[in-house]
Amino acid sequence: MNFKPHNLLVTGGAGFIGANFVRHWLAREGDGRVVVFDALTYAGNAENLAGLEADPRYAFVRGDICDEDAVRAALEEHRIDTVVHFAAESHVDRSILGPDDFIRTNVVGTHVLLKAAKALWIDRKAAAHRFHHVSTDEVYGSLGPSDPAFHEATPYAPNSPYSASKAASDHLVRAYHETYGLNTTVTNCSNNYGPYQFPEKLIPLVIINILLAKPLPVYGDGRQIRDWLHVADHCEAIALALTRGRSGEVYNIGGQAETANIEIVRTLCALVDQRFAENRELRTAYPDSPAAHGGHALELITHVRDRPGHDRRYAIDFTKAAKELGYRPARNLAGGLEATLDWYLRNKAWWQALMGRDYAAWVEKNYRR
Ligand code: NAD
Ligand code: TYD
Repeated sequence: MNFKPHNLLVTGGAGFIGANFVRHWLAREGDGRVVVFDALTYAGNAENLAGLEADPRYAFVRGDICDEDAVRAALEEHRIDTVVHFAAESHVDRSILGPDDFIRTNVVGTHVLLKAAKALWIDRKAAAHRFHHVSTDEVYGSLGPSDPAFHEATPYAPNSPYSASKAASDHLVRAYHETYGLNTTVTNCSNNYGPYQFPEKLIPLVIINILLAKPLPVYGDGRQIRDWLHVADHCEAIALALTRGRSGEVYNIGGQAETANIEIVRTLCALVDQRFAENRELRTAYPDSPAAHGGHALELITHVRDRPGHDRRYAIDFTKAAKELGYRPARNLAGGLEATLDWYLRNKAWWQALMGRDYAAWVEKNYRR
C-alpha cells in the first residue's frame, strides 16, 4: 500500500539537495507541513530557502541532529510522521583532512534521529510513519572500466572517511528496520549537480573559477568517472521512494550520465566561452574571465596532485527504482549543465556571499595542493 506522508521533518534542508527537495515537495504536494531541521554549518545556508517563509506549510528549526532533546522536541511539536534525512558532512576532501565531524554527524547524528523516531513511532505505537535516509553510491567503492554498475546487492566497500561514515549510517537504518520494525526507505544516489550547490564541489567550483579566472584543479589525470544526476531528478526519486517505496527497501538512483571529470571541465569551459560570445554584458559582470578578453577558459585547466584513495569510477543500475517506483531521470547531462551554468551566472550574489563567509577555508582547500 502506498504511504501518504503528511508532516515532514527534513534534516539538512538548508543544504544543496535538501533545499531543492523542500522546494520540490512543496510544489508537488498540496497539503501537510515541511519542517526543516538544520544546524546551519558552513554548508547550510538560510538563503537556499529564501521566499518560503510566507508559506504556512513551511517552518525552520535550527538544531543539531546529535542533540537528542532538540530532535525529539521537533518531532513531537510538529507531529512529524515522516523524516527525510539529508543532514550530513558531505565533502570527501574535507573528510580526508578531518574525519571526526563525519563520524559525529553522519554516524552518531543518524543514530540519534533513528532512536528518537523509534521512541515516538514504535514505542508509542504510532500508525503510519516513514524514515527516509538519503545516501550515496560511494558506499559501494570503486568500479573498474568494464565492471557492471552498482546495484542494491553490490557489497559495501567504502574507501574514504566520508563514504565509510555514510555506509555506517546505512547499516544503522537497516538495523532499526530489522530489529525494531521502523518503516524505512534508503536511496543511494550518484553525484548530484544543479542550483544551490556549495562551490567546493566540482561543477560549481569550475564554473566560478572560470568566471574569476582562477585555476581549474583537475585531480590526477581527470579520467575518474561519475554518473551525474541532476538534483531535480534526485528530488523526484526521493518523493517516489517516500510515496511508493516498500518499507525496508533500498533504491539506487542514477542519472544515466557516466562522464569523466575532465570531460565535465572541458564542457563547462566551452559553455562559458559560448555564453560570453552570445552576451556581451557578461564581460562587464566578469571582466577577469578569459573570454572577456579574447582568451579561452580551457587555459585555466591545471592538473594537480590526485586525491588519496580516489575512487576511479561510479555507475548506477537503477532498474529496481524504475520498476518499483516508476523512476527515470528526465534531464540529460548536456541540458542540465547548461541550465546549471545559467543559474550560477544569474545568481552571482548567492555564491559571492558564500565565498566571503567561508573564503579562507575555501582557498586553503583549493590552492594548497
Ligand atoms: P550539503 O553539504 O550541501 O548540506 C548538508 C546540510 O546538512 C547543511 O545544510 C548543513 O547545515 C546540514 N548539517 C550538517 N551537519 C548537521 C548537523 N549535525 N545537524 C543538523 N544539520 C546538519 O549536502 P548535500 O550535497 O545537500 O547532501 C545531502 C545528503 O545527500 C547527504 O546526506 C549526502 O551524503 C547525500 N548525497 C549527496 C550527494 C551529492 O552529490 N551532493 C550524492 C549522494 C548522496
Ligand atoms: P566532488 O564534487 O568533490 O564529489 P565526490 O568526491 O563526492 O565525487 O568531486 C567530483 C569528482 O571531481 C571527483 O572525482 C573529484 C574530482 N574533483 C576534481 O578533479 N577537482 C576538484 O577541484 C574537485 C572539487 C573535485
